[in-house]
Amino acid sequence: MRAQIKDIILAYDASGIGRPLLLLHGYPLNRKLWRPQLEGLTDTAHVIALDQRGNGESDTPEPPYSVDQLADDAAGLLDELGITEPAVVAGLSMGGYVALAFYRRHADRTAGLILASTRAGADSEAGKANRDKSAALAKEKGMDAIAESMLPKMLAPETYQGRPGLVAEVRHMMAATPLNGALGDLMAMRDRPDSTELLGGIQKPVLIIHGQEDQLIPPSEAEVMNERLPNARLTLVPRAGHLVNLEQPDEFNAAVRTFLRSFLR
Ligand code: MLT
Repeated sequence: MRAQIKDIILAYDASGIGRPLLLLHGYPLNRKLWRPQLEGLTDTAHVIALDQRGNGESDTPEPPYSVDQLADDAAGLLDELGITEPAVVAGLSMGGYVALAFYRRHADRTAGLILASTRAGADSEAGKANRDKSAALAKEKGMDAIAESMLPKMLAPETYQGRPGLVAEVRHMMAATPLNGALGDLMAMRDRPDSTELLGGIQKPVLIIHGQEDQLIPPSEAEVMNERLPNARLTLVPRAGHLVNLEQPDEFNAAVRTFLRSFLR
């Protein structure tokens, strides 16, 4: 489905009934990342997964993008869908950076947060330089090269070696990301603010989910957030890497279901 949000069109999928659960994907991915949640959580929530600007089937405006802009796009989609009750906002990796921006800008519309495979801190100077190197690689060699360089770190070794169908699905998502979208995402991540201080003031319930074998963002980042957030629970998922929701969907969905049932209604 498609929705016009101010000057751009965003693609999204929605399924299920109940409390809105907004799903924000990572980089360089799209809403297909959330297939197991769109299919598996329909008994629990009104699940909404969008292609953030520049990704998947959404419009690709010229970069730069910012996490604030991506958060406002998501809020605009909720408006467009007529959703006024506060949503549970879930983000994986870059989507987690956007979820924290969503909370910062739309706390009254946030019922709770799910922070998957993400971190609260900003990029270090070395991290920022790596964003620029990735942008140069994408411009020079295209998104296939980005997909090949990131894929082995996106998944747990066991997934990467043993589940070729899933590997192909992720490779396709990455390689299909429009160049301008990838460049916009890289800038949004590079320039995002540090949210570490924000955490102590988030009174809403937060579920942190992280793969024990995440090679892109180590599980220690999840533990840091868990220590600072006043109302959080942490689920570490064995045999899962960065794409924990795709690699171990049953564990992921069970944690989300338990979390939602614990504080909603
Ligand atoms: C992601 O998976 O969204 C990104 O790789 C996260 C990052 O590079 O910080």
